[in-house]
This record gives sequence, structure tokens and C-alpha cells, in this order.
Amino acid sequence: MSRAAIILAAGKGTRMKSSTPKVLHKVGGRPMMAWTTDLAKQLGCEKTIIVVGPQFEDVHQAAVSLVGEENVCVQETQSGTATAVQAAVPALKGFKGEAIVLYADTPLIPTDVAQGAFTAIDEGASISVLGFEADNPGGYGRLILADDGGLDRIVEAKDASPEEYAVRLCNSGVMAAPWPLMEELLGEVKNDNAKGEYYLTDLVGLARGRSLKAAAVPCNEDDVLGVNSRVQLAEAETVFQQRARIRFMEEGVGMIDPETVYFSWDTQIGNDVFVEPNVVFGPGVKIASNVTIKAFCHFEGAVVAEGAVLGPYARLRPGADIGEDVRIGNFVEVKNTKMDKGAKANHLAYLGDGSVGENANIGAGTIFCNYDGFFKHKTEIGKNAFVGSNSSIVAPVKVGDDAMVGSGSVVTKDVESGDLALARGQQVSKSGWSAKFREVMSKRKADSKKK
Ligand code: UD1
Ligand code: MG
Repeated sequence: MSRAAIILAAGKGTRMKSSTPKVLHKVGGRPMMAWTTDLAKQLGCEKTIIVVGPQFEDVHQAAVSLVGEENVCVQETQSGTATAVQAAVPALKGFKGEAIVLYADTPLIPTDVAQGAFTAIDEGASISVLGFEADNPGGYGRLILADDGGLDRIVEAKDASPEEYAVRLCNSGVMAAPWPLMEELLGEVKNDNAKGEYYLTDLVGLARGRSLKAAAVPCNEDDVLGVNSRVQLAEAETVFQQRARIRFMEEGVGMIDPETVYFSWDTQIGNDVFVEPNVVFGPGVKIASNVTIKAFCHFEGAVVAEGAVLGPYARLRPGADIGEDVRIGNFVEVKNTKMDKGAKANHLAYLGDGSVGENANIGAGTIFCNYDGFFKHKTEIGKNAFVGSNSSIVAPVKVGDDAMVGSGSVVTKDVESGDLALARGQQVSKSGWSAKFREVMSKRKADSKKK
């Protein structure tokens, strides 16, 4: 049976108290709406519709980039989740398969859990809802079961009687049904409730009124955590990080203190990588096997090859391309720079917009001066080159293979292969000057005390 997903993203998200629309807030470095769109893809949906509000241009743009203009529908007035799904009707014209409704503020649903909603339909239910037992059901809709164990109806917290309010089985918001049935029932939803809204949740009672079977499919609260506030966003982040840590350890990544290591949705790490405490993997990081990452490192947009040793306190920024067995030590920042096999920058350096050849050694305090205030320029360091400590390499400039740069140099011209470049004030030594100076000054001080 073909499948479609309808992702609801038209809510105002006022409880976030943010100028960024709720569904664009990130979990694991990825906007919540993109998590939900990815879930629809994992579920094999051939069509994914995102319903957006008319007032958020940036949500609209993000939705278009995720699913294409033709699959973005606008809910003109935010009068409830049922009207939101109704906004998708024109885009799903003629669709005869199964539909699943997903909320763009519920980012962490595992694929197999959402799959449960379709399985219930395949096993004979006309409509299915994922439900969870909440410790604190609060504002969630309550799933009221029928005597036969099936689902009888959903009651929103604000409309619940005291007995219904006491029920702990809650609506996750994930609902599946054949689309023709869902479309038909949507037309029957009324707004005679506490909020005066058109509730999607009413579809269950409407289906039961036609003697159709409804199913509540159990899942864990963590899997369907809905984000309405900053506190819940942080809770979702915690769940994501905890899952990522466990997954990486299961895949062969070692960690001393996993709770202090933070990942992004797209982090890739090979086996036998060892990660010390307090390391942050921002988006776009790919680490090969057998890499050692010492404490307090921060990475984003970086690729690291096998055998490299990074940190402590290393910073890799976008475009850092770290070759095999490279060493990047403490307080070294690398941006848009390729380091070839065996190259070393062990202490205190900024390597931006450059390349460093095989086995080259970058001394402590080296700076690639890449920016003239207007444009960025490239620094090229050849293989086996040796750059002495505290050197400024003023780009655009090249240091050839096997060349050396004397410590403290300001290099502004290319250095030929095999040469030594010295670009610093020359040392002058004055014989006996220090001894004489001390003698004169000591006498002067003693004389001044006598007076
Ligand atoms: C909703 C459910 C509740 C469930 C809870 C799970 C209804 C009536 N209630 O409540 O049973 O327990 O989710 O998290 O469905 N949206 C629109 N247009 C609207 C209103 C909302 O697109 O007019 C979107 C929001 O962007 C959001 C989703 O629908 O992605 C849910 O809306 P929200 O206001 O968060 O509903 P809850 O009060 O959480
Ligand atoms: Mg919600």
C-alpha cells in the first residue's frame, strides 16, 4: 500500500518565546521539521506534505527546500490540527493509500515506532494512534480505551472530565488511516470544545461512531516527546544525545565519560576511535577509525583520517581536512586547511585557508595570516617543511618542500624548496654590557640611600 505523510508545522509556537519559529529550532544540530521529514522518508512515504502557517516565511522556505513547492500547503487560519490536515487535501487529491499525520514539533520518533501505526492498519484497524503512559500527562490528549481494549476516543486535557483527566495513556499526535477515510472524517469535525478549535483527535470518535475499529499502539514517552517550550527542547536534546552516545559505543567508539560528549545528527565516527571527556561534535564531522580525541575539543565541518591524534583543546572548523596520522595539539585552530599525512601542529597555532604537506612541522605560535581585512588568501606549506615557532606566514605565500622558516619570522615572500627563510630583526650582542650596567646602577642606588 502506498503511503503519504502530512507534517503539521503551522502552529504558532508561542510558548518558545523566540523570534525563530518553533519547528526550526534544532535538536542535535538539525531543525525539528527536518527530523520529521526524514522520518517520513524512512517510512517509505511516496508523498510528504508539510502544512505551514501563512505568517512564517522562513518556515515556508525551509519546507520548500525539504519537500518541494508542490508539497507545501498553507493553513490560512490556525483553527486546530484538523483544519491543518485539511489544508493538505488539494495536494493529496486522488491519493488512495494510507496517510500518517506527524507533528513537526516531535523530532525523535524512531522509524520502527512510527511504523507501528501503519502495522495496526494493516492488521485491521481503520484508524490508529501512537499512545504512551505519561508520568505527568499534563496538557496531552487522553486516550480512552473501549471495553474490548481498542481505542474508543481521544479527549483533550481541557475538555476532560475528572475521571478522563486522571487517565495516563496519552496521545502522541501520530495518527494513521487510509487517506480517503481520513479526508471524509475531517469534514465532520466540529469545534464545540473548550478551545473552540477543530481537533484532529476527534477523528477517532467519528470512526467509532461508524462502528469502525480504532487502535492505540503503545510506545515510550521519550520516543514521542513533543516540544512546546525551551525546557522541552532541552529535554529532547538530552534524549537525542543519550541515544547517540549509546549508538556510538555500540559501534565501537570508546568514551571515558560519555555524558560529557555531544554529537550532531550527522556525526560519523569509525570504530576504535577513543574520545576523552568534554568533546563537542558540531554538524558535518566525519572521523575515520583509530583516531584519538583528547579532552576539550570542538569540531564542526571537519574530516579526519585514520590514526590522527587531536587535542587536548583542539578546534577544527569547516573545511579542516586532517590526513592520516596527523597531530593537532593544544590550542590549535584549523579552518579550511588540508593537512597531509604525518603533518604536525602541536601547540598554539591558527591554520586558516591553507595546505600543509606530508610530515611538515608547524611550530608553536605559528599564524597563517589569511585575511587582509577584505579578502582571504591561501598559505601553502610543502612536504617536510619546518616552520619555526612564533612565525607569521602572510598569505598569499608558499613555503616549498623541505624548506625551513626561522623562528619568529614574518614571511611575506615565497620560500623556495630546500631554503631557509629568516625574516626578523638581527640579533646584536654587546660584549660585557650587562655586567657594566649592573655595576653602575647598583652604585647609583646605594648613593641615593646615603642622602
Ligand atoms: C496535540 C494534540 C494532543 C496531543 C499532543 C501531543 C490535538 C487537538 N491535540 O496537542 O492530543 O497529546 O498534540 O504533542 O491535536 N498545528 C497546526 N495548525 C494548527 C494547530 C497546530 O499546524 O492550527 C501543528 C503545530 O505546529 C504542531 C502540531 O500541530 O506541530 C500540534 O499542535 P500543538 O499546538 O503543539 O498541539 P498540542 O496542544 O501539543
Ligand atoms: Mg504540541
